[in-house]
Amino acid sequence: MARLECRTNASTPGEEAVVIDMVIVQQSQTPTSFATAENGLSAWLRYAPLQGGQHLHSSVPSHIVALNSSTVSPVYIAGQELQQGLKSILGKQCNVHHSHYGGGSNVVVGTLDEYTKAYGALSSTPDLLDDGYLLDTIGNTVQIIGKNERGALYGAFAYLSKVAQGNFIKVAEVSNPSAPIRWTNEWDNLDGSIERGFAGNSNWFSNGSIVSNLTRTAEYARLLASIGINAVVVNNVNANASLLTPINIEGLGRIADVMRPYGVQVGISLYFSSPTAGVRGQANLTTFDPLDESVVQWWTNVTHQIYEQVPDMAGYLVKANSEGQPGPLTYNRTLAEGANLFAKALQPHGGIVMFRAFVYNPLNETVWTADRANAQIEFFKPLDGEFDDNVVIQIKYGPIDFQVREPVSPLFANIPKSAVAIELQVTQEYLGQQCHLVYLGPLWKEILDYDLRVDNETSLVRNIISGERFNHSLGGYAGVSNVGTNETWIGSHMAMSNLYAYGRLAWDPTLDAQDVLQDWIRLTFNTNPSVIDTMTQISMESWPAYENYSGNLGVQTLTDILYTHFGPNPQTQDNTIWGQWTRADQKTIGMDRTVTNGTGFAGNYPPEIAEMFENIATTPDNLLLWFHHVNYTQLLKSGQTVIQDFYDQHYAGAATAQTFTTLWESLQGKIDDERYYDQLFRQVFQAGHSLVWRDAIANFYYNLSGIPDEAKRVGNHPYRIEAENMELDGYKPYSVIPFEAASNFTAIVVSSNTTAGTAQTTITCPSGTYDVAVNYYDQYGGASHFVVSLANETIGEWTSNLKPWIGNSEGPRVLGHTPSIYIDGHSAMRITFSNVTVTKGDVLKIMGTPNGNDIAGLDYVSILPLGVVD
Ligand code: GCU
Repeated sequence: MARLECRTNASTPGEEAVVIDMVIVQQSQTPTSFATAENGLSAWLRYAPLQGGQHLHSSVPSHIVALNSSTVSPVYIAGQELQQGLKSILGKQCNVHHSHYGGGSNVVVGTLDEYTKAYGALSSTPDLLDDGYLLDTIGNTVQIIGKNERGALYGAFAYLSKVAQGNFIKVAEVSNPSAPIRWTNEWDNLDGSIERGFAGNSNWFSNGSIVSNLTRTAEYARLLASIGINAVVVNNVNANASLLTPINIEGLGRIADVMRPYGVQVGISLYFSSPTAGVRGQANLTTFDPLDESVVQWWTNVTHQIYEQVPDMAGYLVKANSEGQPGPLTYNRTLAEGANLFAKALQPHGGIVMFRAFVYNPLNETVWTADRANAQIEFFKPLDGEFDDNVVIQIKYGPIDFQVREPVSPLFANIPKSAVAIELQVTQEYLGQQCHLVYLGPLWKEILDYDLRVDNETSLVRNIISGERFNHSLGGYAGVSNVGTNETWIGSHMAMSNLYAYGRLAWDPTLDAQDVLQDWIRLTFNTNPSVIDTMTQISMESWPAYENYSGNLGVQTLTDILYTHFGPNPQTQDNTIWGQWTRADQKTIGMDRTVTNGTGFAGNYPPEIAEMFENIATTPDNLLLWFHHVNYTQLLKSGQTVIQDFYDQHYAGAATAQTFTTLWESLQGKIDDERYYDQLFRQVFQAGHSLVWRDAIANFYYNLSGIPDEAKRVGNHPYRIEAENMELDGYKPYSVIPFEAASNFTAIVVSSNTTAGTAQTTITCPSGTYDVAVNYYDQYGGASHFVVSLANETIGEWTSNLKPWIGNSEGPRVLGHTPSIYIDGHSAMRITFSNVTVTKGDVLKIMGTPNGNDIAGLDYVSILPLGVVD
């Protein structure tokens, strides 16, 4: 059993201890030197020594022949990687040659052209697309032949991935990418912050310009190349015009230079009204009308300047007329006219425009037929056929915004004349912000495998975005990654499975999400079967669990959409202009998106799908509330009512999250301690915060509907002692907003934010051994200190400093989610002290010392019989 504890600087008995850090402590902790400590920086490219690797020497090549054109060629990098990888994985030192080498067994890597020049034509010409490769292992000879230099590097990484996993099965495979566009989008701001980033600051921007040390940028490009990603849009879609100053354009050139050897191109997001933004070093116009000749000239000129510095720039990403961003509609021009402005500027240079479909207007919820989900269709469907050939419409997977469950965006089925890309979110903005483990492979697979039945024919989303279904040469994937300076890249070791899966699925969306995950586990951790099984179980159960304890039945995530997007706050969905409505009232819930009686959204799908969503009877339960407005007593296909299913699934999801901690604990000694403890810290947090979610959502809907939980769990917590019911000194009751973010709707906070308070009570439960859980609030802007004692014996103390990451200075244990300055569902958390001896009649006392903005909020204490969690 794990618990959160504090580490102190006391070195001798009696010395007064000052808490310096929070750590996870195992009850029966045995130190282990089983695996070396790892910080995560090399992610899945660790090239860890394979057990018994040296015995395989005779069956691997002795020489590497890299047929590169220059030392900045991806083929050169391939040679280096192969050398480094074989040395590290198998302990085998190979020499790298750069031209035909005849002696011994070789691994030869190069483009098809270079290979043919050096070794003559292959017996049969492989069917290679751009970026594709042939990997052929014949005896001790390995051929890695790319259609282009990038493809050769991909082949080298594919070979090393097999070797690192101990997979020496002979292969002769041609691997081609599913689509030409396999990009990440990074929402980095020029000031160095990252929008919806949970892993520190930008690796390439700081203080308005591009940093000089781009080491991490090159390392990132290496990681991306190994999973087939071929471009990175380096700045936020909410773009800043000053990216286009001459000095920043020069900086983009430097970024491109460090990424190019890995075959990764640079793209940038544009601010639509840049011509009028007074960009230093560029002309300042009085209009940004896309049809105005001076504006056309402006963009032509700036684009030319960029290509001078970045001759292979991938293209532009444009968020226009969306969430306050400027766009062509200001001048009554269409979105197509806006997109084509950039397309024409890019066309001579071979660049493309990724034009985002995430366009919607504020709406009024009292209008029954109003629906943000319809916006994309309204804006883009009439424009199909009007976009230039080098424009790709970038569509989020669902019609709203990266929710835990959404139906596939129907726009994929409605603009057959336009090239499209799918936008997926690797960073877990709405899904726990890397503080909750949510493996996204299965979510993406459901979307990619969805058959939209256009013209009553098979129309898988993955075949629409690859360009195959509607015959486009362009199309593909954009993954919003938002990696930062944190050594784990994304904020947590386990969340890196999402970046890995994103790349692998963009390359080949027919892959199985669990197979991809297991490759990642073997490469990132090790090949121990119990490590693979345990991490697989946790990861594969994680999305359903998160859906269950956040928002099930298609109601959306139910997080706070007006503040952090992190903790629960269901009422923020409604009575806003943002159109993420649930339309919940005392009797009913859900959006009526039917054609017959609602917003008509269901009718945006091709007939077979539209008909299914139009009817409650044929709508899958997990999307019921997305498409229908029903009574809480509506029966599901399971036979359960909507409200009871809400309760049941929220309890089930949180119960599953508790098992993740126990499962993770079984990995101690089987992986390195550093990553073990770091992830354990997160699993303990998730277990506690899943209870906050469960209780908040269940209480909210119980309060609204008045329908009790048949299982009598909601609002009934026999093991809890509410803080407000304790004897308070220097503490006072506090009505939490939103009310459901506190047990019994009430917490306590100190009466003065400079003086400690105490809350105490006499234990009435039978004497015995219990787990003592304390639910408290960790507000941003201070670090309160808590001491819990029983009969004057301290059972635990901690500083509430598990603070969100705001730079590199906070030390190793930081959560990274968007902080909250309030006492609410984002700051609510739990600490558990295990196996505590409790005697009836003992006085339980908690002393809270406030600090800064953190007013030592306490919600309740649970005295839990062993095995019970509540
Ligand atoms: C979400 C997200 C924003 C982002 C927007 C977008 O709404 O919260 O931060 O800018 O999506 O994708 O443009």
